[in-house]
Amino acid sequence: MGIEAGGETTRYKREAARAAVDRFFLPGMRVGLGTGSTAAFAVRRLAELRGQGRLLDVVGVPTSRATEALARELGVPLTTLEESPELEVTIDGADEVAPDLSVIKGGGGALLREKIVAQASRRLVIVADAAKLSPRLGTHWPVPVEVLPFGWRSQARFLESLGARVTVRLGADASPFLTDQGNLVLDCAFGPIDDAPSLALRLSSRAGVVCHGLFLGMAHDLVVSGPEGLATRARPT
Ligand code: A5P
Repeated sequence: MGIEAGGETTRYKREAARAAVDRFFLPGMRVGLGTGSTAAFAVRRLAELRGQGRLLDVVGVPTSRATEALARELGVPLTTLEESPELEVTIDGADEVAPDLSVIKGGGGALLREKIVAQASRRLVIVADAAKLSPRLGTHWPVPVEVLPFGWRSQARFLESLGARVTVRLGADASPFLTDQGNLVLDCAFGPIDDAPSLALRLSSRAGVVCHGLFLGMAHDLVVSGPEGLATRARPT
């Protein structure tokens, strides 16, 4: 989930993120700035373009405290959804991408703000390295589920009853990871998911579940880079 020390994967992430910024960020836009190592390359590209005197009037809404800190460090101007409740486009990463551009997100724990910002955007562009591509969601990655600390064990049992192997996400110090909202993340390994929309509905209707990492029908475009090169795909209609 962090930036690897180097290597091909990092290069693919950087290529995809840079290509997405160059294509989808236009002057005057209010944009969403995603979270994670791939999305960070998009923030860096925006800062680089600003250094060349381009996209100077683009303002961003960060999807996490980490992205906010990076944007501030690089001098990228920020706004909020209070000031700018509708965004033209968001560029964000993903953990797993299915052929219909449904995705699993939340490997970095920012799923709630990522979903809020994505839903406030007219267009969501996912940037990824080709290893994220999957025949079916759940094949390679668990579904992160953000839950309130209150009653979390009940939520874990509920998630197990849906067929998940549940793991409480831990932070670097081995204590439970807390999201920017102070909630827990339960990583739910379902294996390949047969009916993601119905699972998403069941997760969303459970009190105590704050957000889940299934982003279905939300991404409009995918910019992916891998051994076969760089490609942009629109969501199939
Ligand atoms: C953050 O919560 C996630 O949704 C990330 O966008 C996702 O985990 C992808 O991360 P990387 O770009 O670091 O692989």
